[in-house]
This record gives sequence, structure tokens and C-alpha cells, in this order.
Amino acid sequence: MRKKWLPANVRKRLLRSAQTAMKRAHAPYSKFRVGAAILTTSGKIFIGCNVENASYGLTNCAERTAIFSAVAQLGPAMEIRAVAVTNDQGVPCSPCGACRQVIYEFGPDAIVFFEGARGPKESHITKLLPEGFRLQ
Ligand code: THU
Repeated sequence: MRKKWLPANVRKRLLRSAQTAMKRAHAPYSKFRVGAAILTTSGKIFIGCNVENASYGLTNCAERTAIFSAVAQLGPAMEIRAVAVTNDQGVPCSPCGACRQVIYEFGPDAIVFFEGARGPKESHITKLLPEGFRLQ
């Protein structure tokens, strides 16, 4: 497992990117805007926001929007180094279970930055998702 540390300026840039994406959220149903930014191991940043639908179950979380955009741009070999998640209500918001599994697919060694119960938090994906699923 790689060292968790990420330079402060990179972390700031990632958080700012997540905030930019958050402003573009389509969240008329929950009114809860979420933004995410992922940093690839090659140093590129991709952003995403939650995109809700009148058929609620079709909603796509911010994290998955960002990851799918990165795959569309770079192909499936891209690897996630870090993920930052923000919301517009300043409340705790860690990635949902589905997003953790998708982060794990492309970033088995990823660091995740999010708003925890006691303020900003960073955690390794395998701590958020122990024994993530992988097809052998
Ligand atoms: N949401 C995200 O985009 N990411 C998360 O990590 C948690 C939840 C979105 C989905 C939905 O649009 C809204 O937040 C309320 O659940």
C-alpha cells in the first residue's frame, strides 16, 4: 500500500475542483448538491456532480460521474490516486457504498477526502470498503 500523503497544494486543487463541479449538480429532488473530483495516478483531475432524475433510482452520484468521465476520456487503464467529495450544506457526506465499490475498481490504493462527522477526513478506500469485490 502506498503512503497516504498527498501534497497540500494538490489536495487543495482537488477540493476546489470538487466545489466547482458541485455548483453544476442537478439536484432538484433532494436539494443536496454534491461535487467530486478524482486525481489519477498520471496527475489528471476529473470532476463530477450528482445528476438526479424524476425517476429517483436513476440518480448518479457525483463520485461515479467523475469516475465514468475519466474512463471515457482515458480508458479503463486509468488509476485513481485520490478522490475529494464536497457538498453544499457543510454536512458529513462520505461516499455511498456503491461509489466505494466503483472507486475500488479503479483505485484500490486511493485516498478519499470527505466531510466526516467531526470535520474534514481522509481515509484509504480499503478502510471505507473492507474486502471490496473483485472478479478473479
Ligand atoms: N450523493 C452523491 O452524489 N454522493 C454521495 O456520496 C452521497 C449522495 C447524492 C445522491 C443524491 O443526488 C443526493 O446526494 C441525495 O442522496
